[in-house]
Amino acid sequence: MPEKNGEKKDAQDATVSGASVTECPFSSSKDPYYNEYLEVHKLIALGNLATDKHDEQLFITIHQAYELWFKQVLIELKSVVDMFIDAKTGKPRKIDDNSGEMVLIVSRLGRIVEIWKVLVAQVDILETMTPMDFLEFRKGLGSASGFQSRQFRIIEAMMGLTPAGRYKSTDAVDRGGSDYYKRVGVKEGGFNEEDRKAIDEIEIGANLRHGVIAWLDRFAGSFGFTEQKYKELWTAYLGEYVQSLPERDRDNLSEKFSANFLADEKKDRGSAEFTIAARRAALIISLLRDYPVLRAPFQVMLRLIDIDEYMAIWRFRHLNMAVRMIGKRSGTGGHSATYLEGAVRENRVFPELLELPTYLLDTSSVNKVIEPYKSILENEFCLQKNG
Ligand code: HEM
Repeated sequence: MPEKNGEKKDAQDATVSGASVTECPFSSSKDPYYNEYLEVHKLIALGNLATDKHDEQLFITIHQAYELWFKQVLIELKSVVDMFIDAKTGKPRKIDDNSGEMVLIVSRLGRIVEIWKVLVAQVDILETMTPMDFLEFRKGLGSASGFQSRQFRIIEAMMGLTPAGRYKSTDAVDRGGSDYYKRVGVKEGGFNEEDRKAIDEIEIGANLRHGVIAWLDRFAGSFGFTEQKYKELWTAYLGEYVQSLPERDRDNLSEKFSANFLADEKKDRGSAEFTIAARRAALIISLLRDYPVLRAPFQVMLRLIDIDEYMAIWRFRHLNMAVRMIGKRSGTGGHSATYLEGAVRENRVFPELLELPTYLLDTSSVNKVIEPYKSILENEFCLQKNG
């Protein structure tokens, strides 16, 4: 399985005194020693203190801890992307929705969510520093900023955040166009050539969003509905849906529903855009989540929403922390809190999944709508509910 290979490679990249960590450290001829295995001496020696001010070490430690966790997020993320998309061909893989692989995807995504919760909690530690404590050593940072975190940008790109999909504030874009977040050759907030290239490479490659869209797209095909039958089903659904809405939402939301679930597929759609089929599959999975075959896919969708949410919560905590430390001043990377606010609001990877609750119906209405199609759902795809 590709994730296993990925794990092996990641493990092989990390070496302990030259020995591969895929060998059990406790059975090798050399008796493993805790500090060597973890290279603790190297780890704690890292960082370039610019001053002798007390809080500067906290500032360095916290950033280093973030970068270590970013490394782990990338390992998990890459393994999940590799399960959705074949790394060699760049083509979507066919995952059995009832398989251990689905369960592995759920558990790896779940691990990313838990790491992200730790990243959010770490903000509390940094907030024990006061703005005056920060000013004591801030000059020494020059133009270095978390804005230049290569791993953070790669996480965003591997999730599927595109240059076009990002928030663009005038204070950022005026100084770099749509590439403002990875400019080269500028002092404030810029990247060096090597980092910029690494981010570019991930941006043009397969990402989680592509993988999820392709998976949902294929999933929709597996319900055994003809396009005609699908249209019938969704038209019936729309009828119930409109009835369920308050008067003030009816025109607007029924129009949106039709555009999202009843329209014909666009021919010139890019791979980063949700197809109508993918939207329908996501809605069906949410509505019929209790059927055994749909349980794991539903968990996948929940974890994707969690990651988007916890990344946004981190952005929000970081924004508040930044304002608390520097008020209305520009950051060392040359951007203001306005930029950070926009990123909180708009830098989401799966807005289509977040929008799904808009279109849900209660269970009895769903049952009424699917009644005529139950035999297709149950016979062809073994969707019998337990119990
Ligand atoms: C005193 C603490 C901090 C302050 C005042 C602060 C402030 C800022 C500001 C103002 C920006 C906008 C770019 C700029 O002008 O620099 C920024 C961006 C950023 N910072 Fe921090 N930051 C702090 C700590 C951290 C920590 C601990 C991390 C952890 C990695 C971090 C990661 C980031 C990231 C990833 C961005 C880019 C966000 C985006 O583009 O959406 N920052 N920070």
